[in-house]
Amino acid sequence: MEEKLRTIKEEAHTEITQSQSETTLREIEIKYLGRNGILTSILRNVKDLKPEDKPIVGKLGNEIKIYIANLIEEQSKKLQNKKFAEQEKEWIDISAYTLEPKITGHLNPLTSLQYELEDIFKNMGFHVWEGPYLEKEEYNFTALNIPQDHPARDMQDTFWIDKNHVLRTHTSPVQIRAMQSLKPPFRVIVPGRVFRYEATDASHENTFYQLEGLMIDKNISISHLIYTMKTFLSAILHKDIEIRLRPGYFPFVEPGLELEISCIFCDKKGCSICKHGGFIELMGCGLVHPDVLKYVNIDPEVFSGFAFGMGLERLVMLKHRINDIRYFLGGDLRFVTQF
Ligand code: DAH
Repeated sequence: MEEKLRTIKEEAHTEITQSQSETTLREIEIKYLGRNGILTSILRNVKDLKPEDKPIVGKLGNEIKIYIANLIEEQSKKLQNKKFAEQEKEWIDISAYTLEPKITGHLNPLTSLQYELEDIFKNMGFHVWEGPYLEKEEYNFTALNIPQDHPARDMQDTFWIDKNHVLRTHTSPVQIRAMQSLKPPFRVIVPGRVFRYEATDASHENTFYQLEGLMIDKNISISHLIYTMKTFLSAILHKDIEIRLRPGYFPFVEPGLELEISCIFCDKKGCSICKHGGFIELMGCGLVHPDVLKYVNIDPEVFSGFAFGMGLERLVMLKHRINDIRYFLGGDLRFVTQF
């Protein structure tokens, strides 16, 4: 019996010291020390042994039981330490350079210019208005003194939706909407998208942005127009701007005017951008035509007003020296991420 116990001890020793995982250790523990384990069974049966064998087997059996339990504990610790040592080899450099998250979303240069313009005009007492892209033919043309079959309609190539509706070719129809809704005196600007049915090239797009302005009050004259234009253009271009007016044909204003600004690149000395003239053509403007006022039931004997309309791309292109309008809607990230 004694011999058998010593063999059990040796076998257990080999099994425990060779085991490489916590799971096998638990299996060995159950095998020897579990409820029906080898050693447990021997000790349970001590009572049936011969009286002289009882103390020897009992004592030795218990010693081996403790020995096995301790050895398992020891081996378990060894395995743990080995695992930690391996984990330590896996080294993390917390000072390592990481790539900054890339923030690619930002305002399009057209939008930031629009917001800047809105701020400038709000400071001068203007309200910001919007109108629909799909516009009544009446507002886009007729109410603006562009009668049916008049050649002036051909000036703006139009996307017709049906007989009475167009994609607005300019922001001017919102003048009509504003005059119908607001009681004079008032001042509004209208930034927004407009559409023209035309072939694209470096300076023409089928979809672009305009900013319309309208001021209605008593005794409005060209000098109010000149002052307002000079103030906002100097603010947006961060430069003292000189303006020049010459006649232009727009049926909804009388007189109709083309506004030119002193060249921001050469200060009127003449360069390739102003085609050596010293001035750059920028927008249409004028005094609101009496017929337009009559159309919306504003008495031209009492009120008068000025209006202007300009392309936003043109201004951004000047500011950033962009040479092709098609970049704005081209969707090329190399273009938009520059701003
Ligand atoms: N709507 C005109 C266009 O798109 C621009 C314009 C000219 C607007 C004169 C005006 C104006 O308000 O007074 O060509």
